Amino acid sequence: MRNIAVVGVGYVGLVTGTCFADLGNKVVALDISEEKIEKLQQGIMPIYEPGLAEVVKRNVEAGRLTFTTNYTETLKDAEFVFICVGTPSGVDGEADLQYVRQAAETIAQEMDHELIIINKSTVPVGTGDWVAEIIHDAQPKPIPFSVVSCPEFLREGSALQDFMNPDRTVLGSLNVEAADKVAQLHLPLRAPIIVTDLRTAEMIKYASNAFLATKISFINEIANICEALGADVKEVAIGMGVDKRIGPRFLDAGVGFGGSCFPKDVLALKHMATVQGKHPQLLEAVMDINYYQRKQVVLKIRELLGEDLSGKTIGLLGLAFKPNTDDMRDAPSIVVTELLIEAGAKVKGYDPVSMDVARRVIRGITFCKDPYEVAQDADVLVIMTEWNEFKQLDMIRVNKLMNQPIIIDGRNIYDPEIMTEQGFMYRGFGRGYNGRTLDD
Ligand code: UDX
Repeated sequence: MRNIAVVGVGYVGLVTGTCFADLGNKVVALDISEEKIEKLQQGIMPIYEPGLAEVVKRNVEAGRLTFTTNYTETLKDAEFVFICVGTPSGVDGEADLQYVRQAAETIAQEMDHELIIINKSTVPVGTGDWVAEIIHDAQPKPIPFSVVSCPEFLREGSALQDFMNPDRTVLGSLNVEAADKVAQLHLPLRAPIIVTDLRTAEMIKYASNAFLATKISFINEIANICEALGADVKEVAIGMGVDKRIGPRFLDAGVGFGGSCFPKDVLALKHMATVQGKHPQLLEAVMDINYYQRKQVVLKIRELLGEDLSGKTIGLLGLAFKPNTDDMRDAPSIVVTELLIEAGAKVKGYDPVSMDVARRVIRGITFCKDPYEVAQDADVLVIMTEWNEFKQLDMIRVNKLMNQPIIIDGRNIYDPEIMTEQGFMYRGFGRGYNGRTLDD
């Protein structure tokens, strides 16, 4: 049992602290938001993450997990301090490190014994050295410490599972002994532990996310070519994915990637390269393709309804950036709504989980209570997020409710032929000739 402090109780910090507590460690999790901490102390989760509330409750009741806004309490018995604060995109895509700086300075000022400070926030290459300098300069008196980079690879919606079953743990440090102690924390996860230097560990995180984003933009490019040539990209992805060098995952074509990581991390890596005089053409293309996927929703609607969308009603099914989360950060639905409103259309939308969050970030949309209210009087229905509840809708009822039976399947969850049989004009992303395959 080790004593662990976590600074920043967001998507990463709350999962990290809770899981380390669930492994038997004693964890004190701090956030500067009093509201967030009060809610957690009442058992109310600040984020939607399937299964998280139960694990938090179990560990709070066992006395292994506490929440506070007080740094002195947080660091009192700590051996390890995980920095899990946000690093949002700043100007030109550069990662905004103000919260990392605040955390590092406060830790330096409050610490009264040796600490291993672990950077779990996604930070530009070189930040570990920068954090060490900040702590060194901010300490009232010199106290030994070491900095270790331990990037996270958690997907929202499956974060608990991803934490407990990682493909690997990556550790970077100039202090091998510190890295070894952090490695000990991760032994119960029984996954490969890669120990390297700080900069390499930080780059592994960016390169991994940028590659996954590239894989998505690649299959989206293939989808766009499939549409012109009459091939079905879902079958293409199956045929590609059985090749062990390619793998079947992250080959789902559609409206593209969103979330708080891929867009931010690709832009940050692009920025890092640019300031070093490099030309990240591939990363630029990855973002350009991703934005074009959102624009294609409007292009496909115009192809079916005509150029002038004024007065047309478009229904969006799904608003969150992916299923099993309430997160709306960089969700494709935000840009699609903006483009449709700009084109003069009326937009309706529904999401099983993210409605409260969506109301704060999407303007000009009429929020509905269920998919059928979205379909009511809609000229087009667009699948933006592949929530399971959209996969078994009563399509006969949907057809009757709609002004016109037109479906744009932004996540390719439906079968084009079945949609056609059910009387819909169907457009997927890369599903053969406008939803028909060669043998139509
Ligand atoms: C991602 C990384 O997967 C994770 O390792 C990292 O730590 C954080 O960023 P996350 O953003 O939570 O996780 O979700 P993920 O499941 O990776 O999906 C990201 C976006 O890509 C979503 O908008 C999703 O809809 C989209 N996506 C994913 C596709 O468009 N096609 C795919 O095949 C897979």
